[in-house]
Amino acid sequence: MNIIKVKDPVAGGIAAFGIIKEAIAAGAKTLGLATGSTPETLYRAMVESDLDFSNITAFNLDEYVGLSKDNSQSYYYFMQEHLFKYKKFKQHFIENGLVGDLEAEAAAYEAKLQAHPIDVQILGIGLNGHIGFNEPKTSFASLTHVTNLTESTINANKRFFERVEDVPTKALTMGIKSIMRSKQIILLAYGAAKAPIIKKLLEGPVSEDVPASVLQKHPQVTVIIDEAAASLL
Ligand code: F6R
Repeated sequence: MNIIKVKDPVAGGIAAFGIIKEAIAAGAKTLGLATGSTPETLYRAMVESDLDFSNITAFNLDEYVGLSKDNSQSYYYFMQEHLFKYKKFKQHFIENGLVGDLEAEAAAYEAKLQAHPIDVQILGIGLNGHIGFNEPKTSFASLTHVTNLTESTINANKRFFERVEDVPTKALTMGIKSIMRSKQIILLAYGAAKAPIIKKLLEGPVSEDVPASVLQKHPQVTVIIDEAAASLL
């Protein structure tokens, strides 16, 4: 894995944007996107650039079950607010967590992904090592699926909600195998709280107990971390 250490999240966003820009110049047509606090500076760099995304297809990693598109905590809403309101893309896909048949939605999303191979996938990382919403012990062979969020993830995400009871307990997420099919992956992590999991990601054994550790097996991964996240390496 290629490791880039940056001063702060703003520099991290600029570094990630540089890689995306290069990939697009080299012909990349499909981006995989993440939500959460971490990619915000990347989206700012994309929005502030003059790069044209109108030929680019975007897929999001995951979406909560039960939140409508106009719910300010849905990932659909997040993406509009941080990127799509400002930049026109050719098309954008995100799972629909409001449908009755979630299994059918997951299968349809996976089929769409397979029809549009991802050139560059952006990832954050959960404190428990999740990527997307692939929580510890998710099979490395998993495709897009419905998942129950762990207590660790619900607690980490409650900062965005009024009450912990408001945090959805289920989500739809690309699977580990879906993520690993991407040609290139950029994982971003900032802050001291992420330092222990970054150490496990980079130095620990590859194990389904730490979903992100699977990235050690991918041929083209760049990990962009600030000094605090790198502090235990
Ligand atoms: C979000 C996602 C999650 C987050 C992770 C880190 O689409 O897939 O894996 O990347 O929970 O979240 P933040 O960036 O808020 O620390």
